[in-house]
Amino acid sequence: MVNQQLVAPRAAAFPSDRIRSLFPALNQEPGFIFFDNAAGAQIPQVVFDAVNGHLLHCNVQRGGRYAKSVEVDATIARARESVADLINARDPNEVAFGMNATSFLRLLSLAIGRTLGTRNEIVVTELDHEANIATWLQLEREGAKIIWWKMREDNNLHVEDLASLLTSKTRLVACTVASHALGSIVDVATVAKLAHAAGAEVVLDCVHYSPHALIDVQAFECDYLVCSGYKVFAPHMGFMWGRLELLYKLQTFREEFIPDAPPGKIEAGTFIYENVAGMGAAVAYLETLGNSLALEEANTELASRRDSLIRAMTAIREYEATLSRKMLEVLRSAEAIVYGVDDPNRLSERVPTFCFNLPNLLPASITKTMSDHGIGIRDGHMYAPRLMKHLGRDLDTGVIRASILHYNTIEEIHEFGRVLRDVVRSQ
Ligand SMILES: Cc1ncc(COP(=O)(O)O)c(C=O)c1O
Repeated sequence: MVNQQLVAPRAAAFPSDRIRSLFPALNQEPGFIFFDNAAGAQIPQVVFDAVNGHLLHCNVQRGGRYAKSVEVDATIARARESVADLINARDPNEVAFGMNATSFLRLLSLAIGRTLGTRNEIVVTELDHEANIATWLQLEREGAKIIWWKMREDNNLHVEDLASLLTSKTRLVACTVASHALGSIVDVATVAKLAHAAGAEVVLDCVHYSPHALIDVQAFECDYLVCSGYKVFAPHMGFMWGRLELLYKLQTFREEFIPDAPPGKIEAGTFIYENVAGMGAAVAYLETLGNSLALEEANTELASRRDSLIRAMTAIREYEATLSRKMLEVLRSAEAIVYGVDDPNRLSERVPTFCFNLPNLLPASITKTMSDHGIGIRDGHMYAPRLMKHLGRDLDTGVIRASILHYNTIEEIHEFGRVLRDVVRSQ
């Protein structure tokens, strides 16, 4: 979907060992296989150091005239610039910090709900996390008409189906960039083109996509985008991006003394500054990774932070495709039913997040056995009840999800496969 530039022939293999050495949680005894990354990623030491440093040396309110307070303002400003580069925002003021993605989606729906009028149709999808559905459904009370973009039998959303749902009454399309449950990627640039042609706006949930591939709000052509820091190697926090001119118009709650301008008008109250410092450090981690890859492979220095981030995310995407291929092999060897894209020739359509079931075995029993073997995966409805219904799964039992990131290895997938096959054989 998104053109991931700077793909260079790789001389050296992906530096898995070096990367893993940077994440303290991956090096503890006894060892543990983190395959529940879609629920939150581990953090590198540099992120911990940034959070720690902030709390120990700079734990004061921003906006004061004394040095420590000035430093808090500077930390937030730097983190805003870093995140702007991470997502290719035109202006750091388009980036707002806060609690999490859910509360930003709520903020957006409250604001957009005040402007519905006759353009009152909101398109939501069956594939999305409930955070990007429930808050839009609430707008029915304000006169919104909800239009469902449904999945086909192949468990994918097809953009051709969206086209016929859009009318001169469509106010908004709310959809995910990548499914946190199935791992499938949505062609959001085409979604945006179609929506804009109908005069509608697009809100993207980029939470699951963010640690796996390059975010580019300009290439996505979206209007708003939300993310969770804790899915992209930072602590628990969230951020939102919006087109500057739209943010100026958005009717948000703010105290009178807060200027009606972004980002302040989106950031009511105090947010968790130490976690924002951690978010800045998470971007620095990715930037350093991109720089070191460029130096090792082509002995070149990259011109900008964005170039370094492109390099890092391109390498991550390629490496994760090898993990996906292996994971599909392993799941097939255990005769698992994989939901979503299961063709190894279509890896460009997915990230390494796998929902599956094993015939005659309860998801909870599999995750329990995996836990006994030091492997963390998840069972349940994945906060996606509409998706579970589409898959024909009971909400109480749901599915099994294994979700992988670039700090995971082929060896871990082998170990996961060994335990999975043992469970199947011994039933
Ligand atoms: C795709 C997706 N969207 C939204 C959310 C909610 O994010 P947050 O916890 O930041 O509110 C999640 C959380 O898992 C998610 O995976």
